[in-house]
Amino acid sequence: MKNITIIGTGYVGLVTGAGMSEFGNKVTCADIDSKKIEGLNSGLIPIYEPGLEEVIKRNFENNRLFFSSDIEASIKKAEVVVIAVGTPQGENGMADLKFVDAVVDTISRNLNNYKVVCTKSTVPIGTGKNIVKKIYNKIQDKELFDYVSNPEFLREGSAIKDFLWPDRVIIGTDSDKAYKVMCDIYRPLYINKNPIAHTSVETAEMIKYASNSFLALKISYINEIANLCELLGADVHDVANAMGQDGRISDKFLHPGPGFGGSCFPKDLEALLAVSKNNGLKMKTVKAAIIANNNQKKRMTRKLLNLFDNDLNKRTISVLGLAFKANTDDIRESAAIDMIKFIIDHGGVVNAYDPIANNEMYKLFNDIHYYNNVYDSIKDADGIVIMTEWNEFRSLDFKRIKKYMRGNIILDTRNILNMNQLSEFGFIYDNVGRIKK
Ligand code: UGA
Repeated sequence: MKNITIIGTGYVGLVTGAGMSEFGNKVTCADIDSKKIEGLNSGLIPIYEPGLEEVIKRNFENNRLFFSSDIEASIKKAEVVVIAVGTPQGENGMADLKFVDAVVDTISRNLNNYKVVCTKSTVPIGTGKNIVKKIYNKIQDKELFDYVSNPEFLREGSAIKDFLWPDRVIIGTDSDKAYKVMCDIYRPLYINKNPIAHTSVETAEMIKYASNSFLALKISYINEIANLCELLGADVHDVANAMGQDGRISDKFLHPGPGFGGSCFPKDLEALLAVSKNNGLKMKTVKAAIIANNNQKKRMTRKLLNLFDNDLNKRTISVLGLAFKANTDDIRESAAIDMIKFIIDHGGVVNAYDPIANNEMYKLFNDIHYYNNVYDSIKDADGIVIMTEWNEFRSLDFKRIKKYMRGNIILDTRNILNMNQLSEFGFIYDNVGRIKK
């Protein structure tokens, strides 16, 4: 078991810190944001992630998990330093590495003994090599560190589960010594079977982008198939189910919807495209996934307009679900943003409700109406648009809804509503690629 310092207490850093301490390691999560650290030390978890609070609390109380704003001291005492700061999208689609660079600088100044320097943040392919060069330029003794790329495959909403029971753990390093250190961190995982793969640094970096881009491509593909289903009278759920039964395809990530969002897919696809362009290579499939996704978001807005005979002026639309997917309060690149903008631009009124993401959306749109539950948000509405697949929207009381609403139009961009019931209660509805009942 290792002594680990994780720099960055954002989404990746906190989940990694919690997970590594749960594996029995001694972990310090460090951040320059002393307010955030103060909060964490008094039990305040800055993000919503199912199970995270519980794992943090348990390991904090058992003295395996610590929080500190003294980055330098935290680096000095660690055997492994994990970089988990943000890599926002910069110019030309490339990831902006200013936070990573600053951390690398601090690490080089505090290598008081041998350490493994490990990157968890998603960084463009080739970044690891540059980090090693940067540190070499600043230190005399090249034996003082080894470098590892250990990309994360955490999904928001199920990140704790993904960390504790991963499909695979990628350890990209040229050093056998560092590889052994990393294996020790993840030791509880290979008691039964070993999910750990040892690769080069560049291969590990590539695996992350290749995985995310492929998943995004899969979503764009099924969305386009759904759109064609609509035109030809086929049902996309039956198509996706049958496709998924083919082991070569798999049934995951074949759920059609309003277009993918979040902080990862849109940014990572652009970054992969930028890196391929810089190397003189055209990646047409990746480009196509992005274009299809933008089209899908627009297609949802057109669907709404069609349901209202091209006139949304003064119509009140209840937008149910604001987060880019269920079980998170993250609204980054959420299709709900495009939908809200569209309704406003067409003179409509937006009543918004999300079980946990209202506050986040308020930062973007402070002049729409927010509600604390579904039934208040649909009162006197002309239409409802489901944008996020929250469980509570799967079992709506249509009798009550019909009574409260002024109109009878429903657009279900997640295909979670029961079409028989919608017809039964006389709603006019649309969804993505399903045969209407
Ligand atoms: C994604 C990857 O799934 C993780 O493996 C990866 O670690 C993470 O990015 C990252 O790079 O950090 P995340 O963005 O949290 O995770 O969310 P996903 O569950 O992958 O969903 C992404 C988007 O695709 C959402 O908008 C979701 O609604 C949409 N989606 C997903 C579909 O429209 N259909 C599907 O079948 C699946």
